[in-house]
Amino acid sequence: MRILYFLFVSLFLLTGCMKKPAPSQATLQAPGGKIRLEFMLKSDGSPAYAVFLADKVLIDSSTLGFTLKDEPALRANFEVIKFSNSSFDETWETVWGERRKIRNHYNELTAYLREKEAPNRLMNLIFRAYDDGVAFHYVIPEQPGIPANFVIMEEHSEFRFTGDHTAWWKPADIDSYEYLYETTPLSKIDASKYAPENERVDRRILNFKAVNTPITLRTAEGVHISLHEARQLDYPDMTLALKGNTDLVSELVPWADGDRVKATLPLRTPWRTITISDRAGGLVESNLILNLNDPNKLKDLSYIEPMVYTGIWWEMHIGKTTWRRDFVEGSWSNMGGQVHGATTENTKRHIDFNAANGIRGLLIEGWNTGWEYWGMDTIGFFDFVTPYPDFDIKEVVRYANEKGVAIIGHHETSGDVENYEKHLEKAFQLYKDLGIKAVKTGYAGEIRPKGERHHGQYMIRHYQKVIELAAKYGIAINAHEPNKDTGLRRTWPNYMTREGLRGTEYEAWSAGNPPEHTVILPFTRLLGGPGDYTAGIFDVLFDKYKKDERVHSTVAKQLAVMVTLYSPHQMAADLPENYEGKPAFQFVRDLVADWDETIVLNAEVGDYLTTVRKAKGSPNWFLGSTTDENARELSASLSFLDAGKTYVADIYADGPGADWERNPFPVAIQKVLVTKDMTLPLKLAPGGGTAISFKPATEEEAKTLPMFGK
Ligand code: NOJ
Ligand code: CA
Repeated sequence: MRILYFLFVSLFLLTGCMKKPAPSQATLQAPGGKIRLEFMLKSDGSPAYAVFLADKVLIDSSTLGFTLKDEPALRANFEVIKFSNSSFDETWETVWGERRKIRNHYNELTAYLREKEAPNRLMNLIFRAYDDGVAFHYVIPEQPGIPANFVIMEEHSEFRFTGDHTAWWKPADIDSYEYLYETTPLSKIDASKYAPENERVDRRILNFKAVNTPITLRTAEGVHISLHEARQLDYPDMTLALKGNTDLVSELVPWADGDRVKATLPLRTPWRTITISDRAGGLVESNLILNLNDPNKLKDLSYIEPMVYTGIWWEMHIGKTTWRRDFVEGSWSNMGGQVHGATTENTKRHIDFNAANGIRGLLIEGWNTGWEYWGMDTIGFFDFVTPYPDFDIKEVVRYANEKGVAIIGHHETSGDVENYEKHLEKAFQLYKDLGIKAVKTGYAGEIRPKGERHHGQYMIRHYQKVIELAAKYGIAINAHEPNKDTGLRRTWPNYMTREGLRGTEYEAWSAGNPPEHTVILPFTRLLGGPGDYTAGIFDVLFDKYKKDERVHSTVAKQLAVMVTLYSPHQMAADLPENYEGKPAFQFVRDLVADWDETIVLNAEVGDYLTTVRKAKGSPNWFLGSTTDENARELSASLSFLDAGKTYVADIYADGPGADWERNPFPVAIQKVLVTKDMTLPLKLAPGGGTAISFKPATEEEAKTLPMFGK
């Protein structure tokens, strides 16, 4: 008996003392159980993950790691010290957005890794599984084995797909996102036709077999996947390069000196995100990117105002007026008989138009000196505070205030960031003093300091600096030629919207945007966040100003995209004279730019999209339905409406014979009563659309208006 006891105790002690190697594999399941992520160490000790949907491999074992400057790579030879797991479930409220409440529900796994050999460097990988996708990021903690300041030369995050999925992508230009999307099999990603773009000073493609994110994929079984990033702070853009047939691997945008990340310990990279849905509309409805960002940091939100806006803008793009004035023989005039757009008089005309139509915002471009040098190879010409003499800024703002119109200021930097940073504080101070609470910024040109790129770490720092400084001055920002949207609007809700897409301006001075562009954007670029597409053009041909260019859309679709392409600053971009007297403009008067809820009713990437949104704090709903170059008959179940209520639906559809190419103008307007149990047919012309506003019927309306279909 004693011997047995002795044996038992020694066995217990032995097993207890023996260092059990931590397992090198772990599983992470999304709360709903359909999505699963497996973490593993490969035989060479490189960390890897795989993603499964309903037990089918979506992303095969893909490795993660870095190469560093003057230090050995941080990619292999790891062991797992430990795993930790946690869960989170909270519903938070947005300041503004596509919806008011968002549920953030995930399970998290952290793999604490250590190199097996000295100096035994540490790296942690954090994975999150949601019901709408997975995400991971790297944390490199403070440690003796890595200098406090170090340089990452490349991040090697793999996304190895198991099939040659259909891909919607645009080239990995490290300066610009202003491209049309290509639709090809994943294995056929090839942007070499864009080689001439590299001649431009404000464009650069380093790898023609690489793409910018978001890139969206669809498997043969109809699973939709989108790769992007979230919470991009002090870290360059991740582009994705095609390796072999169906593998994508991260490539970071370099500094002028070739470094990718000038990093400081502890380093926390942006999240790498994989949004997954069995329907195209599921990608659009996903909140994954926002959920991966930190909660709102701003205390004063009083100046942040979602709004529909017009501008002294389209008139310059089509050549009716110009941004510039010319200083000729000692005085300001206009060369070649050109007309300056931002004059006191023209601005007051716009203010009157907005006031008469209840449009809140007015953007004014070309108000400040310096435009006469724009596009020239010279620097330092904007000071952002000196108005042209024909623009009385104080008087304009006084008049706008009197009429209840909010002026949106403009800072075009032409890419000369060094100059902009010199003037930034006094430029914001001027707007603050005047009571201007929103500013559109722009970076159209080569970045200075020379060699830095729009999507490199230098600029990521700059864009962030502008947002934080703008918040200090009570200013909201709409950035053009911006950094990509990775959901930072949750943390800094004064970062309202941005361009970062090929917008309507291209319709004014290039071959334009084919009808499918606006049914690809919502499933690609706009998955990152809002986009300032600047639609709402009624005179889609603008032959009075230009004969060769035009907008590739019917007029009804121009209304519909103001619903489908989300932006909290939503532009109605056409000239006031093109809206005057047009019954269809009522839709814009009624439209809002902030929402309680957003639902996608039907969608196929690149084909069509129907979205409904409920106006914030109001019972009104808005519907936008859009198609590519093909005519379509869709339908909208009105089950989103409240039960027991009768609504007035104002329907703006493509009129008889409408066709974006041959007959873009007919808009058929109908006012009918509808209820929740109805289904409305949506008849979309080629390149067309339907826009509808719904509001509860008054007693009078309920008695007098016809019921739909009766
Ligand atoms: C390009 C911007 O996208 C556009 O909106 C702006 O009008 C011009 N730059 C001038 O700043
Ligand atoms: Ca632009």
